[in-house]
Amino acid sequence: MTEHVKTEIAAGIMTLTLARADKKNALSQAMYSAMSDGLERAEKDPSIRVVLFQGDGDSFTAGNDLADFSAQADGRDTGESQAFRFISNLGNATRPLVAAVQGNAVGVGTTMLLHCDLVYLADNAKLMTPFVNLALVPEAASSWLLPARIGHVRAYAMFALGEPLDAATALACGLANAVVPAADLRAKAHAAAEALTKRPMGSLAHTKALMRDMEKIAAQIGRESALFRERLQTGEAREAFAAFAERRKPDFAKVAG
Ligand code: COA
Repeated sequence: MTEHVKTEIAAGIMTLTLARADKKNALSQAMYSAMSDGLERAEKDPSIRVVLFQGDGDSFTAGNDLADFSAQADGRDTGESQAFRFISNLGNATRPLVAAVQGNAVGVGTTMLLHCDLVYLADNAKLMTPFVNLALVPEAASSWLLPARIGHVRAYAMFALGEPLDAATALACGLANAVVPAADLRAKAHAAAEALTKRPMGSLAHTKALMRDMEKIAAQIGRESALFRERLQTGEAREAFAAFAERRKPDFAKVAG
């Protein structure tokens, strides 16, 4: 249980709201766990026809909590990764997933959108996947899905250089359905979710399954996760997390890979 994810179910829509605005909705293990519980329930409960993700405050999410990464890097946390559970649930989801994204969507905040079926961006949205800046590798099958969606060189610049995509560019690249003023974002996404609740669920499930290679997604998630866990233990990663905590630039020249 965590107060940092609000789960509401109404009129066929499960809304999962990230509610840790003071930390830019950075995702703790408890938050991943709550979102996984929601996705797993949605798969089993026929009264839930659509899942809608949104975030409180000025950012959709700053991605994985870097203090948690740091604890995993120095062995303080050896528990089962709730992030992996969440990512696997995204890959396996058969319900339609809708996202409403404002401000920063960092790391998994962007890669989870590759598993959403309808994505709405506020005009201030900024999509970022700075995995290499953190000495990590891409996750959530994004190493395959992102270049497939936006082309190799744009995806590489996002992964390797941490270059952000602004809302208009993300829309032009096919990562979103529409860009709207921030004040209209939730209503727009909710209306889309509501429209999906009126469609036949069986047909929606088959259509989604036909559009996604779930086996390939699961296999890629497995390959990435093995490398990701390995990378978390490196001196490069420890330097990246220490630099964030100390609000300085990392110096990768002084550490071994
Ligand atoms: N993990 C843990 N805490 C985070 C966080 C994260 N991923 N992102 C932000 N925070 C915290 C900050 O430490 C700060 O906490 P404090 O007020 O106790 O000092 C608070 O959230 C506000 O963040 P701040 O950096 O001051 O906000 P900003 O508007 O200047 O910048 C971001 C927003 C998202 C661009 C910036 O916080 C950032 O780059 N975060 C890290 C993103 C990241 O690398 N995520 C991992 C991806 S795999």
